[in-house]
Amino acid sequence: MILVTGGAGFIGSNFVVDWLDCRDEPVVNLDKLTYAGNLQALATLSGNEKHIFVKGDICDGSLVSHLLDKYRPRAVINFAAESHVDRSIHGPGDFIQTNVVGTFHLLESMRAYWNTLTDVERGAFRFLHISTDEVYGSLAPDEAPFTESNRYEPNSPYSASKAASDHLVRAWHHTYGLPVLTTNCSNNYGPYHFPEKLIPLIILNALAGKPLPVYGDGMQVRDWLYVKDHCSAIRCVLESGRVGETYNIGGWNEKTNIEVVRTLCRILDELAPRTDTSSYIQQIQFIADRPGHDRRYAIDAGKLERELGWKPKETFESGIYKTVKWYLTNQEWVNNVISGTYREWVKTQYG
Ligand code: NAD
Ligand code: DAU
Repeated sequence: MILVTGGAGFIGSNFVVDWLDCRDEPVVNLDKLTYAGNLQALATLSGNEKHIFVKGDICDGSLVSHLLDKYRPRAVINFAAESHVDRSIHGPGDFIQTNVVGTFHLLESMRAYWNTLTDVERGAFRFLHISTDEVYGSLAPDEAPFTESNRYEPNSPYSASKAASDHLVRAWHHTYGLPVLTTNCSNNYGPYHFPEKLIPLIILNALAGKPLPVYGDGMQVRDWLYVKDHCSAIRCVLESGRVGETYNIGGWNEKTNIEVVRTLCRILDELAPRTDTSSYIQQIQFIADRPGHDRRYAIDAGKLERELGWKPKETFESGIYKTVKWYLTNQEWVNNVISGTYREWVKTQYG
């Protein structure tokens, strides 16, 4: 069996559902259920004995050790994190606690567990740490996409906390021999994306007749990957990745933010036209920029393709269309996650 942390969040829940769709191997899912974690994203697994959900914190070393001893997983995949850059600017403390201290506790519990395994089990064990392209900092317009050998230059409290966690993972491999793998992925989008992030926020605000907030000039570039493609890349790295290596994951889909927002407006114009039949584009509003906003991210996923043969299945055009359709047909999920705390966040961030 495998142990997944943060499996009730956006990427983790997609991963767990896909895993149980294509594998027979059970999953223990440890998640603290913060504002970003939602069991409704796992509703299709209700009654499935291969999914064991445990509410808890990765900072709780004794709980993690207990789960490792009880379930004896052959692999641990760490999705658990505070993941929203804007929130990290308003309050970095939780990011240090979960992303840095939490990863430290996980590593220590795993090291103790790994030392109890037989030689064969120790050789087969893997810890896969899920990280981000943001650790590499910001690219100039003419710079080549990030490769695995780019220098770490994190600029936000979020990316600094993720960078710190990547360094801990690297050190636990070099010092103690723990068999680790790290993946650094670009921006994901797709079903169950929490509506504080750009794509779901724009879809929801458009449908509600609210302004579509674009930071600064909207010319910042992100490299988008459909979440199911991220999940297939993680399975591929877990099965065949070389121990101690890092792998960049991306979809070769660089887009400016304004291009993404206009694309969403055009799809919504087609699938859910405004009652006055004018375009949603008129709801776009340029607002104050994010402090320290990274200008451009772009991932070179060549190593993953060359070494392990992985390629994304979705284009940006097919993935974004599917995503808009998903939000239009899953408004109940959306309404359920828009709690009082979510409304508080929108007030803090957008006034
Ligand atoms: P998310 O915010 O949607 O979900 C995070 C999950 O972790 C939630 O279910 C939350 O309850 C859980 N969690 C938070 N703190 C915890 C703790 N202390 N103990 C246990 N569980 C805890 O995040 P996401 O977008 O699904 O991202 C998952 C991982 O992928 C993160 O590590 C993130 O850095 C990384 N990542 C995300 C993206 C992206 O575009 N979303 C891209 C690259 C990498
Ligand atoms: O690059 C990978 C990262 O992508 C992950 O590590 C993070 O966990 C994930 O949240 C995401 O970070 P971003 O900051 O790129 O994502 P976000 O959706 O918050 O913003 C995408 C871009 O859109 C960014 O340039 C900021 C901009 N933006 C965002 C919001 C919420 C706006 O212009 N307006 C908005 O209201």
